[in-house]
Amino acid sequence: MITLYEPTLGQTEKQALNAVIESGWLTMGDQVKAFERAFATLHQAEDAVAVSSCTAGLHLCLIALGIKPGDEVLAPALTFAATVNAILYVGATPVLTDIENSERPHISPDDARRKCTSRTRAVIVMHYAGYPADMRAWRTFADERGLKLVEDAAHCPAARDVARFSDAAAFSFFSNKNMTTAEGGMVTARERTVSERIRLLRSHAMTSGTLDRHRGHAYTYDIVALGYNYRMDELRAALGLAQLKQLPQWNARRRVLADMYRHLLDIRLPQVSVPFHKPSASTVHIMPVVLPERADRKKVMAELYRKGVQSSIHYRPIHLFSYYKKMFRNPVLPQTEKFASRELTLPLHPGLDDTDIESVVGALSESI
Ligand SMILES: Cc1ncc(COP(=O)(O)O)c(C=O)c1O
Repeated sequence: MITLYEPTLGQTEKQALNAVIESGWLTMGDQVKAFERAFATLHQAEDAVAVSSCTAGLHLCLIALGIKPGDEVLAPALTFAATVNAILYVGATPVLTDIENSERPHISPDDARRKCTSRTRAVIVMHYAGYPADMRAWRTFADERGLKLVEDAAHCPAARDVARFSDAAAFSFFSNKNMTTAEGGMVTARERTVSERIRLLRSHAMTSGTLDRHRGHAYTYDIVALGYNYRMDELRAALGLAQLKQLPQWNARRRVLADMYRHLLDIRLPQVSVPFHKPSASTVHIMPVVLPERADRKKVMAELYRKGVQSSIHYRPIHLFSYYKKMFRNPVLPQTEKFASRELTLPLHPGLDDTDIESVVGALSESI
């Protein structure tokens, strides 16, 4: 089976985990601090805060930026549920926004402009498949309207310009991501006060941590707000540090494999299109393609599976899931619906080789 994704784990990760076990300190210690510093440096950010997941990170971003019940937040309908759930967690109203088109399945500035009201307070931009959206343009968009700008950067750790122009950005280290800590996330923010607020809220808004108390740097603590347990542990941070060092080379390998896909698909399946023609800065988290209009996607996926190739869909739009159907009645999202009905995600991870890519394209050709 050619798998859709696979984490890359080896000796480095085993040694990192072993060292934490030997140390006897398992959560919120030196590994977490070192991971935060290394992640911030890689993204040229002043600070980074490790959290238990990207979902937790998005939640804390919205709280720290002051998003409240009654506020409206623009978000793409073509995303994972976490983007929209974070808005619901703070009691605000998600306003589902269309994508630009099937060539650029990013949240559409035109539709965002149309859907802005006097209650709009923020916009969440999700970098679909690891292709960064134009954040300079989104910064201008947000500034002109007095909105907070948040990046759902789950797909693009180490992408250029990500986390530079937004008020806050959240990354994911879930097992299928470009780098993993099994479960985990990281948040960056433009202003120190915001990242400090997020750091406080991730651990019940306690004014000192257990390590500080253990080392005698603090004897007690106060609780100064309603916080959460969104902490990252030392094992995950050590794993993250080990993975982070290898991330640039893995992202580069993903780009090579994606280029190969593009080349082969161009020759053998010109009726299949690949979004983002100029993908220079991408971390290529996934390999989405758009099937010809008359192809039966379900049958193509079943046939691919029979031939030993896993595939998936990114994404079923939010408003089409049972839970959200009653929340979003007949939203106007024509580009999202068109793209989502024909999108198919092919296997992509650094463990694949040239012959795997050829096999996938061959199997796709026969299946179509
Ligand atoms: C676009 C997007 N946002 C958010 C998340 C949530 O990440 P996590 O599982 O780390 O909470 C994911 C994870 O799949 C994602 O793909």
